[in-house]
Amino acid sequence: MTQDLISESLERVAERHGDPAKAVYARLFSQQPEMEALFVGDKDGLSRGNMLANVFEVILDLAGPRSYGLNMVRAEITNHDQLGVPGAVFMSFFPVVVETLKELSGDDWTPEVAAAWAGVLDDLASLVPA
Ligand code: HEM
Repeated sequence: MTQDLISESLERVAERHGDPAKAVYARLFSQQPEMEALFVGDKDGLSRGNMLANVFEVILDLAGPRSYGLNMVRAEITNHDQLGVPGAVFMSFFPVVVETLKELSGDDWTPEVAAAWAGVLDDLASLVPA
């Protein structure tokens, strides 16, 4: 099941590397350098960590029950627009997360796991106008 593949994939990355937040945000800031300034107040990384945890929860919801994920993404697009994050940049966070997980996963990135993640990204791209 897609949700199981996704959650197992997240667990393996955590086992191999611990918290992936540093790698995710390093990749984000290399692709979107102007976004780094928005986190200057986040000295301890708490906001970055909470945001990533929310993103994982949303992804697990989209791969499973689909009870709130799409609504949350749509609401956060508006909130982030007010923070200075354009919609297209907001949506680019999801592929950034998946690319980072792929890199950290090594051999654990099987074709099944890759297809599960690709499905979530396709869903997001088709369901949420950037
Ligand atoms: C490149 C894309 C993104 C940027 C630059 C960005 C930026 C930020 C910033 C600067 C904050 C901290 C706001 C503050 O503390 O005042 C934040 C918080 C948050 N972001 Fe994002 N965001 C992005 C994408 C996303 C996505 C895709 C989601 C999807 C759910 C999301 C969900 C959240 C949530 C839930 C919080 C509040 C976290 C908390 O509890 O502190 N963000 N974001």
